Amino acid sequence: FTEIKQLYRNKEEYIGKTVKVAGWIRTSRASKNFGFIELNDGSFFKNMQVVIAEDKLENFKEITKLPISSSILVEGELVSTEGAKQPVEIQATKIELEGESDSSYPLQKKRHTLEYLRTIAHLRPRSNTFSAVFRVRSLAAYAIHKFFQDRNFVYAHSPIITGSDCEGAGEMFRITTMDLNNIPKNEEGAIDYSKDFFGKEANLTVSGQLNAEIMALAFRNVYTFGPTFRAENSFTQRHASEFWMIEPEIAFADLEDNMELAEDMIKYVISYVMENAPEEMEFFNSFIDKGLMDRLNNVVNSEFTRITYTKAVEMLQESGHEFEYPVKWGDDLQTEHERYLTEQVFKAPVFVTDYPKDIKAFYMRMNEDGKTVRAMDLLVPGVGEIVGGSQREERYDVLLERIKEMNLNEEDYWWYLELRKFGTATHSGFGLGFERIIMYMTGMANIRDVIPFPRTPKNAEF
Ligand code: 4AD
Ligand code: MG
Repeated sequence: FTEIKQLYRNKEEYIGKTVKVAGWIRTSRASKNFGFIELNDGSFFKNMQVVIAEDKLENFKEITKLPISSSILVEGELVSTEGAKQPVEIQATKIELEGESDSSYPLQKKRHTLEYLRTIAHLRPRSNTFSAVFRVRSLAAYAIHKFFQDRNFVYAHSPIITGSDCEGAGEMFRITTMDLNNIPKNEEGAIDYSKDFFGKEANLTVSGQLNAEIMALAFRNVYTFGPTFRAENSFTQRHASEFWMIEPEIAFADLEDNMELAEDMIKYVISYVMENAPEEMEFFNSFIDKGLMDRLNNVVNSEFTRITYTKAVEMLQESGHEFEYPVKWGDDLQTEHERYLTEQVFKAPVFVTDYPKDIKAFYMRMNEDGKTVRAMDLLVPGVGEIVGGSQREERYDVLLERIKEMNLNEEDYWWYLELRKFGTATHSGFGLGFERIIMYMTGMANIRDVIPFPRTPKNAEF
Protein backbone atom coordinates (compact mmCIF):
# COMPACT_ATOMS: atom_id res chain seq x y z
CA PHE A 1 0.00 0.00 0.00
CA THR A 2 1.19 3.47 -0.80
CA GLU A 3 0.91 6.12 1.91
CA ILE A 4 -1.59 8.84 1.18
CA LYS A 5 1.11 11.32 2.17
CA GLN A 6 3.22 10.08 -0.74
CA LEU A 7 0.30 10.42 -3.14
CA TYR A 8 -0.07 14.06 -2.12
CA ARG A 9 3.58 15.03 -1.85
CA ASN A 10 4.84 13.16 -4.95
CA LYS A 11 1.65 13.20 -6.95
CA GLU A 12 3.42 13.70 -10.33
CA GLU A 13 4.98 10.29 -9.88
CA TYR A 14 1.63 8.57 -9.36
CA ILE A 15 -0.95 10.41 -11.46
CA GLY A 16 -2.38 8.16 -14.18
CA LYS A 17 -1.18 5.03 -12.41
CA THR A 18 -2.98 2.37 -10.43
CA VAL A 19 -2.36 2.75 -6.70
CA LYS A 20 -3.36 0.78 -3.64
CA VAL A 21 -4.13 2.40 -0.31
CA ALA A 22 -5.44 1.13 3.02
CA GLY A 23 -7.27 3.25 5.56
CA TRP A 24 -10.35 4.17 7.53
CA ILE A 25 -13.49 5.79 6.16
CA ARG A 26 -13.81 9.28 7.61
CA THR A 27 -16.96 10.22 5.70
CA SER A 28 -18.91 8.66 2.93
CA ARG A 29 -21.77 9.85 0.76
CA ALA A 30 -23.35 8.21 -2.22
CA SER A 31 -26.28 8.42 -4.57
CA LYS A 32 -27.70 5.42 -6.40
CA ASN A 33 -24.75 4.78 -8.63
CA PHE A 34 -22.01 7.18 -7.60
CA GLY A 35 -20.31 8.33 -4.40
CA PHE A 36 -17.33 9.68 -2.48
CA ILE A 37 -15.38 8.31 0.42
CA GLU A 38 -12.97 10.42 2.43
CA LEU A 39 -10.25 7.99 3.41
CA ASN A 40 -7.61 8.57 6.06
CA ASP A 41 -4.71 6.17 6.34
CA GLY A 42 -2.91 7.85 9.25
CA SER A 43 0.13 8.75 7.17
CA PHE A 44 -1.14 12.23 6.48
CA PHE A 45 -3.36 14.84 8.05
CA LYS A 46 -5.46 15.13 4.90
CA ASN A 47 -7.89 12.53 3.63
CA MET A 48 -7.81 11.01 0.16
CA GLN A 49 -11.02 11.35 -1.80
CA VAL A 50 -12.02 8.00 -3.24
CA VAL A 51 -14.57 8.11 -6.05
CA ILE A 52 -16.82 5.09 -6.24
CA ALA A 53 -19.09 4.25 -9.15
CA GLU A 54 -21.54 1.40 -9.64
CA ASP A 55 -20.25 0.51 -13.09
CA LYS A 56 -16.65 0.17 -11.80
CA LEU A 57 -17.16 -1.64 -8.50
CA GLU A 58 -18.92 -4.94 -8.20
CA ASN A 59 -19.55 -4.42 -4.48
CA PHE A 60 -20.64 -0.78 -4.87
CA LYS A 61 -23.84 -1.20 -2.79
CA GLU A 62 -22.04 -2.92 0.06
CA ILE A 63 -19.33 -0.26 0.18
CA THR A 64 -21.80 2.65 0.30
CA LYS A 65 -23.42 1.11 3.36
CA LEU A 66 -20.24 0.84 5.42
CA PRO A 67 -20.33 2.81 8.66
CA ILE A 68 -17.74 5.51 9.32
CA SER A 69 -14.41 4.16 10.60
CA SER A 70 -14.66 0.90 8.70
CA SER A 71 -11.25 -0.04 7.34
CA ILE A 72 -10.94 -0.77 3.63
CA LEU A 73 -8.34 -1.60 0.99
CA VAL A 74 -8.69 0.48 -2.15
CA GLU A 75 -7.27 0.00 -5.61
CA GLY A 76 -7.74 2.53 -8.38
CA GLU A 77 -6.29 5.20 -10.58
CA LEU A 78 -4.85 8.38 -9.08
CA VAL A 79 -6.35 11.26 -11.01
CA SER A 80 -5.34 14.92 -10.98
CA THR A 81 -8.16 17.21 -9.86
CA GLU A 82 -6.23 20.47 -9.90
CA GLY A 83 -8.50 23.34 -8.96
CA ALA A 84 -10.79 21.20 -6.83
CA LYS A 85 -10.61 21.18 -3.03
CA GLN A 86 -8.00 18.46 -3.20
CA PRO A 87 -5.27 18.12 -5.86
CA VAL A 88 -5.80 14.39 -6.51
CA GLU A 89 -8.38 11.66 -6.02
CA ILE A 90 -8.56 7.92 -6.52
CA GLN A 91 -11.10 6.47 -8.91
CA ALA A 92 -11.65 3.09 -7.34
CA THR A 93 -11.71 -0.09 -9.36
CA LYS A 94 -11.61 -2.47 -6.41
CA ILE A 95 -12.42 -2.07 -2.72
CA GLU A 96 -12.04 -4.79 -0.12
CA LEU A 97 -13.50 -4.57 3.33
CA GLU A 98 -10.90 -5.17 6.04
CA GLY A 99 -12.89 -4.48 9.21
CA GLU A 100 -16.44 -3.23 9.37
CA SER A 101 -17.11 -0.61 12.01
CA ASP A 102 -20.07 -0.70 14.31
CA SER A 103 -22.57 2.05 13.60
CA SER A 104 -22.23 3.17 17.23
CA TYR A 105 -18.78 4.65 16.42
CA PRO A 106 -18.83 7.90 18.39
CA LEU A 107 -16.74 10.16 16.14
CA GLN A 108 -19.43 11.07 13.70
CA LYS A 109 -19.21 14.18 11.60
CA LYS A 110 -20.32 16.68 14.21
CA ARG A 111 -17.65 18.37 16.30
CA HIS A 112 -17.14 17.06 19.80
CA THR A 113 -15.84 18.92 22.81
CA LEU A 114 -12.28 18.27 23.93
CA GLU A 115 -13.67 17.23 27.31
CA TYR A 116 -15.75 14.53 25.71
CA LEU A 117 -12.88 13.35 23.55
CA ARG A 118 -10.78 12.84 26.70
CA THR A 119 -13.24 10.18 27.78
CA ILE A 120 -12.56 8.22 24.59
CA ALA A 121 -8.77 8.36 24.52
CA HIS A 122 -8.76 5.06 22.61
CA LEU A 123 -10.49 6.75 19.67
CA ARG A 124 -9.51 10.39 19.81
CA PRO A 125 -6.23 9.95 17.86
CA ARG A 126 -8.53 9.42 14.86
CA SER A 127 -10.04 12.89 15.14
CA ASN A 128 -8.57 15.81 13.19
CA THR A 129 -7.51 17.72 16.26
CA PHE A 130 -5.64 14.86 17.87
CA SER A 131 -4.22 13.61 14.63
CA ALA A 132 -2.63 17.05 14.34
CA VAL A 133 -1.53 17.31 17.98
CA PHE A 134 0.12 13.92 18.20
CA ARG A 135 1.95 14.24 14.93
CA VAL A 136 3.27 17.64 15.99
CA ARG A 137 4.33 16.05 19.27
CA SER A 138 6.25 13.37 17.42
CA LEU A 139 7.94 15.85 15.10
CA ALA A 140 8.86 18.14 17.97
CA ALA A 141 10.51 15.23 19.78
CA TYR A 142 12.54 14.47 16.70
CA ALA A 143 13.47 18.14 16.28
CA ILE A 144 14.74 18.24 19.84
CA HIS A 145 17.01 15.26 19.31
CA LYS A 146 18.18 16.69 16.02
CA PHE A 147 18.93 20.08 17.54
CA PHE A 148 21.17 18.58 20.22
CA GLN A 149 22.74 15.82 18.15
CA ASP A 150 23.70 18.32 15.44
CA ARG A 151 25.49 20.28 18.17
CA ASN A 152 27.40 17.26 19.46
CA PHE A 153 25.44 16.92 22.70
CA VAL A 154 25.38 13.45 24.26
CA TYR A 155 21.93 12.03 24.95
CA ALA A 156 22.15 10.89 28.55
CA HIS A 157 19.53 8.53 29.93
CA SER A 158 18.69 9.48 33.48
CA PRO A 159 17.01 6.90 35.69
CA ILE A 160 13.27 6.85 36.17
CA ILE A 161 13.59 5.20 39.55
CA THR A 162 15.76 7.25 41.85
CA GLY A 163 16.63 7.72 45.48
CA SER A 164 16.93 11.49 45.34
CA ASP A 165 14.53 14.42 45.20
CA CYS A 166 16.11 16.87 42.79
CA GLU A 167 13.75 19.74 43.37
CA GLY A 168 13.41 19.18 47.12
CA ALA A 169 9.71 19.89 46.80
CA GLY A 170 8.63 16.49 48.12
CA GLU A 171 6.20 15.92 45.26
CA MET A 172 7.32 12.39 44.60
CA PHE A 173 5.56 9.16 43.80
CA ARG A 174 7.01 6.56 46.16
CA ILE A 175 7.98 3.16 44.86
CA THR A 176 7.87 0.18 47.12
CA THR A 177 7.46 -3.58 47.06
CA MET A 178 6.65 -3.66 50.77
CA ASP A 179 3.50 -5.41 51.87
CA LEU A 180 1.35 -2.41 52.68
CA ASN A 181 -0.56 -4.42 55.28
CA ASN A 182 2.62 -5.32 57.05
CA ILE A 183 5.10 -2.50 56.75
CA PRO A 184 8.44 -3.22 58.45
CA LYS A 185 9.23 -0.74 61.23
CA ASN A 186 12.47 -0.08 63.08
CA GLU A 187 12.90 0.30 66.86
CA GLU A 188 11.76 3.93 66.75
CA GLY A 189 8.60 2.90 64.96
CA ALA A 190 9.61 4.50 61.68
CA ILE A 191 9.30 2.67 58.36
CA ASP A 192 12.37 0.49 57.85
CA TYR A 193 13.30 1.13 54.25
CA SER A 194 16.39 -1.04 54.54
CA LYS A 195 13.97 -3.96 54.19
CA ASP A 196 12.51 -2.51 50.99
CA PHE A 197 13.48 -3.55 47.46
CA PHE A 198 16.26 -1.00 46.98
CA GLY A 199 17.28 -0.94 50.63
CA LYS A 200 16.33 2.72 50.81
CA GLU A 201 13.50 5.06 49.94
CA ALA A 202 12.92 5.22 46.22
CA ASN A 203 10.66 7.28 44.02
CA LEU A 204 9.88 8.13 40.42
CA THR A 205 12.14 10.90 39.22
CA VAL A 206 10.94 14.52 39.28
CA SER A 207 13.91 15.62 37.18
CA GLY A 208 16.99 14.07 35.62
CA GLN A 209 19.10 17.11 36.36
CA LEU A 210 21.44 15.74 39.02
CA ASN A 211 22.34 12.82 36.78
CA ALA A 212 22.70 15.15 33.82
CA GLU A 213 25.21 17.18 35.83
CA ILE A 214 27.28 14.04 36.39
CA MET A 215 27.31 13.40 32.66
CA ALA A 216 28.02 17.03 31.73
CA LEU A 217 31.10 17.01 33.92
CA ALA A 218 32.41 14.20 31.73
CA PHE A 219 30.99 14.97 28.28
CA ARG A 220 30.64 18.75 28.57
CA ASN A 221 27.35 19.04 26.67
CA VAL A 222 24.55 16.58 27.36
CA TYR A 223 20.78 16.40 27.38
CA THR A 224 18.15 14.12 28.81
CA PHE A 225 14.73 13.64 27.31
CA GLY A 226 12.37 11.40 29.16
CA PRO A 227 9.35 11.08 31.40
CA THR A 228 9.26 12.77 34.80
CA PHE A 229 6.68 12.49 37.53
CA ARG A 230 5.20 14.87 40.04
CA ALA A 231 2.58 14.16 42.65
CA GLU A 232 1.34 17.74 42.70
CA ASN A 233 -2.28 17.54 43.59
CA SER A 234 -3.19 20.46 41.39
CA PHE A 235 -5.98 20.45 38.86
CA THR A 236 -4.60 23.11 36.57
CA GLN A 237 -4.57 23.11 32.80
CA ARG A 238 -0.75 23.12 32.80
CA HIS A 239 0.18 20.39 35.26
CA ALA A 240 0.32 16.69 34.61
CA SER A 241 1.47 13.98 37.01
CA GLU A 242 3.53 12.39 34.25
CA PHE A 243 5.16 14.69 31.74
CA TRP A 244 8.24 14.69 29.55
CA MET A 245 11.15 16.96 30.17
CA ILE A 246 14.17 17.92 28.11
CA GLU A 247 17.12 18.76 30.32
CA PRO A 248 20.31 19.97 28.69
CA GLU A 249 23.32 20.48 30.92
CA ILE A 250 26.37 22.38 29.66
CA ALA A 251 29.81 22.66 31.25
CA PHE A 252 32.07 25.71 31.11
CA ALA A 253 28.91 27.71 30.49
CA ASP A 254 27.11 30.33 32.54
CA LEU A 255 23.52 31.54 32.74
CA GLU A 256 23.86 33.73 29.65
CA ASP A 257 24.99 30.72 27.61
CA ASN A 258 22.13 28.76 29.11
CA MET A 259 19.52 31.31 28.02
CA GLU A 260 21.03 31.46 24.56
CA LEU A 261 20.76 27.68 24.28
CA ALA A 262 17.14 27.66 25.43
CA GLU A 263 16.24 30.41 22.99
CA ASP A 264 18.00 28.74 20.05
CA MET A 265 16.41 25.42 20.85
CA ILE A 266 12.88 26.74 21.12
CA LYS A 267 13.20 28.67 17.88
CA TYR A 268 14.61 25.60 16.17
CA VAL A 269 11.82 23.32 17.32
CA ILE A 270 9.09 25.77 16.33
CA SER A 271 10.65 26.33 12.89
CA TYR A 272 11.10 22.62 12.35
CA VAL A 273 7.48 21.85 13.15
CA MET A 274 6.13 24.71 11.02
CA GLU A 275 8.20 23.47 8.12
CA ASN A 276 7.40 19.78 8.50
CA ALA A 277 3.77 19.87 9.55
CA PRO A 278 2.30 22.72 7.48
CA GLU A 279 -1.15 21.11 7.18
CA GLU A 280 -1.40 20.50 10.92
CA MET A 281 -0.19 24.00 11.79
CA GLU A 282 -2.67 25.52 9.35
CA PHE A 283 -5.40 23.54 11.10
CA PHE A 284 -4.41 24.92 14.53
CA ASN A 285 -4.22 28.40 13.08
CA SER A 286 -7.73 28.15 11.65
CA PHE A 287 -9.59 26.13 14.26
CA ILE A 288 -7.79 26.23 17.59
CA ASP A 289 -5.96 29.54 17.93
CA LYS A 290 -6.42 32.26 15.33
CA GLY A 291 -3.22 34.19 14.75
CA LEU A 292 -1.04 31.36 16.03
CA MET A 293 1.22 31.25 12.98
CA ASP A 294 1.87 34.99 12.98
CA ARG A 295 2.80 34.82 16.62
CA LEU A 296 5.11 31.86 16.16
CA ASN A 297 6.78 33.49 13.19
CA ASN A 298 7.34 36.51 15.37
CA VAL A 299 8.87 34.38 18.11
CA VAL A 300 11.25 32.75 15.69
CA ASN A 301 12.36 36.09 14.28
CA SER A 302 12.77 38.21 17.39
CA GLU A 303 15.01 38.17 20.43
CA PHE A 304 13.59 37.04 23.73
CA THR A 305 13.51 39.70 26.43
CA ARG A 306 15.58 39.22 29.59
CA ILE A 307 14.68 40.88 32.88
CA THR A 308 15.58 40.18 36.48
CA TYR A 309 13.03 39.01 38.99
CA THR A 310 13.53 42.24 40.93
CA LYS A 311 12.78 44.30 37.85
CA ALA A 312 9.74 42.13 37.06
CA VAL A 313 8.35 42.72 40.55
CA GLU A 314 8.86 46.47 40.16
CA MET A 315 7.11 46.47 36.82
CA LEU A 316 4.17 44.54 38.21
CA GLN A 317 3.91 46.82 41.22
CA GLU A 318 4.07 49.94 39.08
CA SER A 319 1.65 48.60 36.47
CA GLY A 320 -1.39 49.87 38.33
CA HIS A 321 -3.06 46.56 37.54
CA GLU A 322 -5.07 44.99 40.33
CA PHE A 323 -3.89 41.45 40.93
CA GLU A 324 -5.71 38.91 43.01
CA TYR A 325 -2.44 38.38 44.88
CA PRO A 326 -0.49 41.64 45.01
CA VAL A 327 3.11 40.83 44.24
CA LYS A 328 5.89 41.51 46.71
CA TRP A 329 9.63 40.88 46.54
CA GLY A 330 10.44 37.44 47.87
CA ASP A 331 7.24 35.74 46.75
CA ASP A 332 7.04 33.41 43.80
CA LEU A 333 5.34 34.88 40.74
CA GLN A 334 1.78 33.63 40.39
CA THR A 335 0.24 32.62 37.10
CA GLU A 336 -1.61 35.95 36.90
CA HIS A 337 1.71 37.83 37.24
CA GLU A 338 3.43 35.70 34.62
CA ARG A 339 0.52 36.16 32.27
CA TYR A 340 0.47 39.90 32.79
CA LEU A 341 4.17 40.18 31.94
CA THR A 342 4.03 38.05 28.81
CA GLU A 343 0.57 38.94 27.53
CA GLN A 344 0.16 42.60 28.49
CA VAL A 345 3.67 44.03 28.87
CA PHE A 346 5.96 42.16 26.47
CA LYS A 347 3.56 40.14 24.29
CA ALA A 348 6.47 37.79 23.71
CA PRO A 349 8.62 35.22 25.54
CA VAL A 350 10.50 36.66 28.53
CA PHE A 351 13.38 35.27 30.56
CA VAL A 352 13.10 36.21 34.21
CA THR A 353 16.41 35.78 36.05
CA ASP A 354 17.96 36.02 39.50
CA TYR A 355 15.15 34.91 41.76
CA PRO A 356 15.27 35.10 45.57
CA LYS A 357 17.15 32.07 46.89
CA ASP A 358 14.36 31.08 49.25
CA ILE A 359 11.92 30.24 46.46
CA LYS A 360 14.39 28.22 44.40
CA ALA A 361 16.17 24.86 44.67
CA PHE A 362 19.37 24.23 46.64
CA TYR A 363 21.64 23.69 43.63
CA MET A 364 21.37 27.16 42.08
CA ARG A 365 24.43 29.37 42.13
CA MET A 366 24.39 32.06 44.81
CA ASN A 367 24.79 35.63 43.59
CA GLU A 368 27.13 38.20 45.19
CA ASP A 369 24.20 39.82 46.96
CA GLY A 370 23.67 36.66 49.05
CA LYS A 371 19.92 37.00 48.44
CA THR A 372 19.34 35.90 44.88
CA VAL A 373 20.44 32.95 42.78
CA ARG A 374 21.36 32.60 39.11
CA ALA A 375 18.04 31.15 38.10
CA MET A 376 16.07 31.67 34.94
CA ASP A 377 12.49 30.91 33.99
CA LEU A 378 11.22 31.39 30.48
CA LEU A 379 7.65 32.65 30.42
CA VAL A 380 5.54 32.65 27.27
CA PRO A 381 2.10 34.11 26.48
CA GLY A 382 -0.78 31.71 26.94
CA VAL A 383 1.15 29.02 28.76
CA GLY A 384 3.32 30.75 31.37
CA GLU A 385 6.52 29.01 32.47
CA ILE A 386 7.87 26.60 29.90
CA VAL A 387 11.51 26.50 30.99
CA GLY A 388 13.10 26.49 34.43
CA GLY A 389 16.86 26.48 34.74
CA SER A 390 19.92 27.91 36.41
CA GLN A 391 23.63 28.17 36.65
CA ARG A 392 24.64 25.51 39.16
CA GLU A 393 26.54 26.12 42.39
CA GLU A 394 29.98 24.79 41.47
CA ARG A 395 31.72 25.88 44.70
CA TYR A 396 31.99 23.02 47.18
CA ASP A 397 31.80 25.11 50.35
CA VAL A 398 28.94 27.29 49.22
CA LEU A 399 26.97 24.25 48.08
CA LEU A 400 27.55 22.41 51.35
CA GLU A 401 26.40 25.44 53.27
CA ARG A 402 23.22 25.64 51.19
CA ILE A 403 22.48 21.96 51.74
CA LYS A 404 22.78 22.47 55.48
CA GLU A 405 20.84 25.72 55.44
CA MET A 406 17.95 23.98 53.68
CA ASN A 407 18.01 21.08 56.14
CA LEU A 408 18.76 18.56 53.44
CA ASN A 409 20.48 15.35 54.35
CA GLU A 410 24.17 15.91 53.56
CA GLU A 411 24.88 12.19 53.16
CA ASP A 412 22.30 11.87 50.40
CA TYR A 413 24.30 14.31 48.31
CA TRP A 414 27.82 12.92 48.83
CA TRP A 415 28.33 12.20 45.14
CA TYR A 416 26.83 15.50 44.08
CA LEU A 417 29.27 17.27 46.40
CA GLU A 418 32.20 15.21 45.12
CA LEU A 419 31.60 16.53 41.62
CA ARG A 420 32.67 19.89 43.09
CA LYS A 421 35.81 18.32 44.49
CA PHE A 422 37.22 16.57 41.44
CA GLY A 423 37.67 19.30 38.86
CA THR A 424 34.62 21.44 39.36
CA ALA A 425 33.49 23.65 36.50
CA THR A 426 31.05 26.42 35.87
CA HIS A 427 27.98 24.69 34.48
CA SER A 428 24.36 25.40 33.72
CA GLY A 429 21.24 23.73 32.48
CA PHE A 430 17.52 23.91 32.22
CA GLY A 431 14.39 21.84 31.96
CA LEU A 432 11.92 22.40 29.16
CA GLY A 433 8.46 20.98 29.78
CA PHE A 434 7.77 19.08 26.57
CA GLU A 435 3.98 19.33 26.89
CA ARG A 436 4.22 23.04 27.61
CA ILE A 437 6.03 23.75 24.36
CA ILE A 438 3.53 21.58 22.48
CA MET A 439 0.73 23.65 24.01
CA TYR A 440 2.55 26.80 22.96
CA MET A 441 3.03 25.61 19.38
CA THR A 442 -0.47 24.28 18.85
CA GLY A 443 -2.57 26.69 20.89
CA MET A 444 -4.10 23.77 22.79
CA ALA A 445 -5.07 25.18 26.17
CA ASN A 446 -5.12 22.04 28.30
CA ILE A 447 -2.15 19.78 28.96
CA ARG A 448 -4.52 16.78 28.89
CA ASP A 449 -4.97 17.43 25.19
CA VAL A 450 -1.32 17.25 24.18
CA ILE A 451 -0.56 13.87 25.82
CA PRO A 452 -2.02 10.75 24.21
CA PHE A 453 -2.78 9.17 27.58
CA PRO A 454 -2.58 11.88 30.23
CA ARG A 455 -1.94 11.13 33.88
CA THR A 456 -3.49 13.64 36.25
CA PRO A 457 -4.99 13.29 39.74
CA LYS A 458 -7.79 10.70 39.70
CA ASN A 459 -7.06 9.83 36.10
CA ALA A 460 -5.03 6.80 35.08
CA GLU A 461 -7.38 5.17 32.60
CA PHE A 462 -6.26 3.94 29.19
O1 4AD B 1 11.02 24.35 36.85
P1 4AD B 1 11.21 22.89 37.05
O2 4AD B 1 10.64 22.29 38.28
O3 4AD B 1 12.78 22.65 36.96
C1 4AD B 1 13.43 21.47 37.16
O4 4AD B 1 12.91 20.40 37.38
C2 4AD B 1 14.91 21.57 36.97
N1 4AD B 1 15.54 20.45 37.67
C3 4AD B 1 15.23 21.59 35.50
C4 4AD B 1 16.70 21.74 35.21
O5 4AD B 1 17.27 22.75 35.51
N2 4AD B 1 17.30 20.73 34.63
O6 4AD B 1 10.60 22.11 35.81
C5 4AD B 1 11.06 22.39 34.50
C6 4AD B 1 9.91 22.55 33.54
C7 4AD B 1 8.95 23.67 33.90
O7 4AD B 1 9.41 24.90 33.44
C8 4AD B 1 7.69 23.22 33.18
O8 4AD B 1 7.77 23.57 31.82
C9 4AD B 1 7.77 21.72 33.29
O9 4AD B 1 9.11 21.38 33.55
N3 4AD B 1 6.91 21.20 34.36
C10 4AD B 1 5.74 20.58 34.18
N4 4AD B 1 5.07 20.29 33.06
C11 4AD B 1 3.90 19.65 33.17
N5 4AD B 1 3.37 19.25 34.35
C12 4AD B 1 4.01 19.51 35.52
N6 4AD B 1 3.50 19.09 36.66
C13 4AD B 1 5.26 20.22 35.46
N7 4AD B 1 6.15 20.63 36.38
C14 4AD B 1 7.15 21.22 35.70
MG1 MG C 1 10.05 25.96 37.69
